[in-house]
Amino acid sequence: MSNNFKAVILAAGQGTRMKSKVPKVLHKVLDKPMVDYVIDESIKAGAEDICVIVGHQSAMVKAMIGDRVKFGLQAEQLGTGHAVMQAGDFLNGGNIAVLCGDTPLITADTLKKLNELHAVEGNAVTVVSMILDDPASYGRIIRKDGVFDKIVEFKDASEEERACKEVNTGVYIFDSAQLLKAFDSLSNNNAQGEYYLTDTLEIIKNNGGKVGIMVAEDENEFLGVNSKLQLGEATSIMKKRINDFHMLNGVTLQDPDNTYIGPDVKIGADTLILPGCYIEGDTEIGEDCIIGPNSRITSSKINNCVTIQNSTMIDAFVDNYTTVGPYAYLRPNSKIGEHVRIGDFVEVKNSTIDDGTKVSHLTYVGDSDVGKCVNFGCGTVTVNYDGKNKHRCKIGDNVFIGCNSNLVAPVEVGAHAYTAAGSTITKDVPADSLAIARSRQENKEGWRVKSGK
Ligand code: UD1
Ligand code: CA
Repeated sequence: MSNNFKAVILAAGQGTRMKSKVPKVLHKVLDKPMVDYVIDESIKAGAEDICVIVGHQSAMVKAMIGDRVKFGLQAEQLGTGHAVMQAGDFLNGGNIAVLCGDTPLITADTLKKLNELHAVEGNAVTVVSMILDDPASYGRIIRKDGVFDKIVEFKDASEEERACKEVNTGVYIFDSAQLLKAFDSLSNNNAQGEYYLTDTLEIIKNNGGKVGIMVAEDENEFLGVNSKLQLGEATSIMKKRINDFHMLNGVTLQDPDNTYIGPDVKIGADTLILPGCYIEGDTEIGEDCIIGPNSRITSSKINNCVTIQNSTMIDAFVDNYTTVGPYAYLRPNSKIGEHVRIGDFVEVKNSTIDDGTKVSHLTYVGDSDVGKCVNFGCGTVTVNYDGKNKHRCKIGDNVFIGCNSNLVAPVEVGAHAYTAAGSTITKDVPADSLAIARSRQENKEGWRVKSGK
């Protein structure tokens, strides 16, 4: 049994301890901003609607998150209770989960369990607690005869209360009517002069509502990030979580500690990832590939049985059985076919390279459409830019481009044509022909002796 629920995510704070120009919740764990993790896990857990409370640098936070959620504005940070109030009409009806934008490790699984427990126990509010050896400055959960009594913030707590090791994770689910009623009697009469959301639980209890506690199984999920040090800790935990997931799915990570995979990456079984790889964005890698060492793959798609060695790919596609690198650079909108060879120091941009083509060494292919089984000699340059505009090169099937050719776009080389080494091709080359575009060699015999050298 579980209820429908909506989520309010608090993200108005400045995050002074980050010592950064960037608002706290936009700092990234691997390649994704913290608040996006919280939003995505809430959606996965079944949240019907989400309201993010913004305040500090709200325009920047809203722009980054986009229009997949609603926003509430907390112009002045008067406490967590005050922050939730800013959700306004969003709070009318149903169950409201409250989460923090700076706890990126929370999982959908935990939120689902919380929602289930809340429904099964018929609670007015359920809070997630955790037991810590060092409860630091977390709010303390005080029980009386085993059941919830109140939450006391560290700054307001007595010595005896501070000794309590059960603390508030800052994650709750509320019956909205009970929460709104509690807001009526919420005051800021405390050590920080803030409207504490935590006080609403005692108010709800005093109003006759049932307050439940779910003790967290894994306290790592509630690690709040307040500094770059904690951002580093959260990154390590997230990285291990992601890498473990891929290894359990049959991906081989030769050195998981030295492999960085973003949360939205998909990788097929029997793919081997060698050390020093950074794989990010919505990258998808198929089965039986070998990636790395030392490759950066961003928002790209790689099919099966592909080898990528010491290379960089951004927004690019590589089809089956192709090899890339070492030291290749596949830039946005590059589409590489099957059984292609992209060799060392080759850069490809906004180009299609069809099946069986070899671009083995020291070559730039930009804004070009290359056919099947073309052979590029070493040092070919597609001259795509005239200083003002970009132009395309078209190269037919089975073309042979001689070493050190320049193909000055717009230009077309017909199928089965050849260009002589060292040519600067400025005119279209008809199919089946040989284009030579360089000065003829002249040998001056006996030149050294005659010139007295
Ligand atoms: C809060 C809890 C504490 C709990 C801890 C868990 C309260 C009063 N205390 O304390 O019991 O142990 O979280 O991490 O709730 N925020 C706003 N507007 C505000 C104040 C805060 O949006 O006016 C946001 C912050 O940006 C942050 C979150 O709420 O994302 C938590 O605020 P923070 O000040 O870090 O709360 P704690 O003092 O850690
Ligand atoms: Ca605080």
